[in-house]
Amino acid sequence: MTQPASRVRVAVIFGGVSSEHDVSCLTAGGVTRAMDPAKYDVIGIGITPSGKWTQVTRDAMAAMEVVDGKLPRLDEDAPEATLLQCAGEGGRVATIAQDRIVDVRDFDVAFALLHGPFGEDGTIQGLFEMYQVRYVGSGVAGSAIGMDKDLMKRTLQSAGLPVGPWLAVTPIDWKTDPQGVLDSARHLELPLFVKPARGGSSVGISRVTSYDDLPAAIAAAQRHDPKIVIEQGFTAVREIECAVLTDPEGGSPRVSLPGEIEMHTEEKFYDFESKYLAESQVTLHVPAILDDDLREQCRAVAGEAFAALAAEGLARVDLFATGQGEVYVNEINTMPGFTRFSMFPMMWAASGVSYPEVIDWLLGLALTRPMGLR
Ligand SMILES: Nc1ncnc2c1ncn2[C@@H]1O[C@H](COP(=O)(O)OP(=O)(O)O)[C@@H](O)[C@H]1O
Ligand SMILES: [Mg+2]
Repeated sequence: MTQPASRVRVAVIFGGVSSEHDVSCLTAGGVTRAMDPAKYDVIGIGITPSGKWTQVTRDAMAAMEVVDGKLPRLDEDAPEATLLQCAGEGGRVATIAQDRIVDVRDFDVAFALLHGPFGEDGTIQGLFEMYQVRYVGSGVAGSAIGMDKDLMKRTLQSAGLPVGPWLAVTPIDWKTDPQGVLDSARHLELPLFVKPARGGSSVGISRVTSYDDLPAAIAAAQRHDPKIVIEQGFTAVREIECAVLTDPEGGSPRVSLPGEIEMHTEEKFYDFESKYLAESQVTLHVPAILDDDLREQCRAVAGEAFAALAAEGLARVDLFATGQGEVYVNEINTMPGFTRFSMFPMMWAASGVSYPEVIDWLLGLALTRPMGLR
């Protein structure tokens, strides 16, 4: 069957070297299945856990799902692919066999569905900028700041947005003055949350209820990132999230109705298992049942957080709402989980924008966004 020439050629880049490789594959599966084949020609580029760029067919991408409780992963032996420079505003990808380029395909726009470091953190965005490739989502600075929980909180705080107390610990801090770090952490009230600064999907995060447990929690977080953050834990808060999209007409960011994550046990936080595997530990309310004031406050804070980071395209802003009606920002994700059952698309669906419409919206923004410095 011949396809109309006007199909948009989209390079979907997924997988990646971060601990969220599998989640990215899941996201790529969901997005690929939702992309209308009459509108989009999908060129799959999978980055394996070791960092190899590979060609993946549309069918193989569409098949990526949780099977028997196991998340999908990319095969290291797949044919090698590489990005090439191409004159103009598109991109070019080549397949390599026996050290030779055997196939070259041009595309119009890149959609990097990568979560975590080396994907969501400005690195691949920098590659796209260097190669003048159009791409979905935040630029270099917005991605990098959004990824780093310390830089993110500093940026939000300087924009007057509420964030909880925290302490950043660099490898030098920990090496030269571990006791100073532990003493400083005692100024934060228990429970504490110890996290890799640039993590995601709750990987490497510990909830600490005794200061004596800090060194072990710090070591656990450092296995994922040499820089870590120690946060004062919020208790008796509701976890509220909002999905944000750039306004195509250049107005203020569009913010969805909020959603809520309800954990069924106080000690348990929204960890990796409850996010992707054990559905019984958590209930998602989309939209969240909130009184009008709190709902609008959440939406306002989410939109302001998006603007403070100069985020572009999309982001999910995660909030804590206290019983006193205060709203704090927990984090902003510039490439949030994006399967049909993820909060980001579900919040848009509840706000009247379907999953395929969100994808059209994002690709439309990327195709019309000016290149270069913005
Ligand atoms: N300061 C905090 N107070 C209370 N709960 C927290 C705090 N930080 C994280 N959590 C819990 O841990 C989960 C994961 O933390 P988060 O910072 O969102 O990490 P990630 O970037 O890996 O998603 C949150 O969804 C929440 O349930
Ligand atoms: Mg989170």
